[in-house]
Amino acid sequence: GLLHQEKEPVTVLVTGAAGQIGYALVAMIARGAMLGPNQPVILHMLDIEPAAEALKGVKMELMDAALPLLRGIVASTDVAEACKGVNIAVMLGGFPRKEGMERKDVMSKNVSIYKAQASALEKHAAADCKVLVVANPANTNALILKEFAPSIPDKNITCLTRLDHNRALAQISERTKVHITDVKNVIIWGNHSSTQYPDVNHATVQEKPVREVVGDDEWLNNDFIATVQQRGAAIIKARKLSSALSAASSACDHIRDWVLGTPKGSWVSMGVYSDGSYDIQPGLIYSFPVTCEKGEWSIVQGLEIDAFSREKMDKTAQELIEEKELAKSCLN
Ligand code: NAD
Ligand code: LMR
Repeated sequence: GLLHQEKEPVTVLVTGAAGQIGYALVAMIARGAMLGPNQPVILHMLDIEPAAEALKGVKMELMDAALPLLRGIVASTDVAEACKGVNIAVMLGGFPRKEGMERKDVMSKNVSIYKAQASALEKHAAADCKVLVVANPANTNALILKEFAPSIPDKNITCLTRLDHNRALAQISERTKVHITDVKNVIIWGNHSSTQYPDVNHATVQEKPVREVVGDDEWLNNDFIATVQQRGAAIIKARKLSSALSAASSACDHIRDWVLGTPKGSWVSMGVYSDGSYDIQPGLIYSFPVTCEKGEWSIVQGLEIDAFSREKMDKTAQELIEEKELAKSCLN
């Protein structure tokens, strides 16, 4: 009957789907963790030729999991085919930094990948496609994608800093011994790199200011910030591989909140196209506190910024300006 009318499936592209994050992420998407338990999905998985067999294996496993929400699987090494009709694109594919490689060499590889994939998305994806870039350098890859997909609205191109945001929540929760859902409104400003600024000045624990509950500004201003900034490196050291399940889970959080809305009274962090808010240079993909409603994010306005924060927000902006310059130089 009408009450049980099925929703149209949403088509989700995952690039680099044969990799580590991909392996965790596609299962989460197909189990409803990204778009909700009543939203059927079609998965498009893209990887490159050397990973084609592994990608086939992932497709076989997705079939074998007999997932009720999963209404179709495309596993491809053809960018155009993978981008066709896509509503949501999660970009995990990229060129990793290898030993002895210069920053510029890595940037140059990623610039050409993101330039090509931007064009494919622009040509073949749905007009209102939402894009989340995870692959590093995430902010600058997203900026390249934006530049080369001019028909996709600026607002639809974002990068992942939700993992950093969740890491900050986890550190506060652990320190204050409260449930993770009792910690709210931390902010990650800037780049998904070790210059990011995890800011607790507006955050709360059970509705009370974090600084009051923690009662240790020395820890909050030093170890807490460094721990969040260095968490990616700590995971690599422990696992000999970069974070995957936490990155996949946070990517689901990012898209879910963007599409379905943030809860009343709280915000999340997203890397978005800067408009000059908080005196951050327009035209960078910079992580801000945002609320989402009806599929659109807006930067939380009017937060007071002290001198300590200002310096850290500018420092991470400066790094993004330099990355942008480097990316530009790779285009010539
Ligand atoms: P991985 O190396 O396991 O997987 C990457 C996959 O991308 C590989 O299968 C590779 O073949 C594929 N690939 C390479 N070039 C491609 C292209 N042009 N098109 C399609 N696929 C391509 O890496 P991973 O551990 O899954 O991580 C993926 C990316 O996410 C890395 O760049 C990593 O640094 C980044 N990362 C970001 C965050 C974040 O919070 N933003 C967190 C963790 C990891
Ligand atoms: C992370 O934050 O876990 C990753 O971005 C680390 C990395 O360098 O891949």
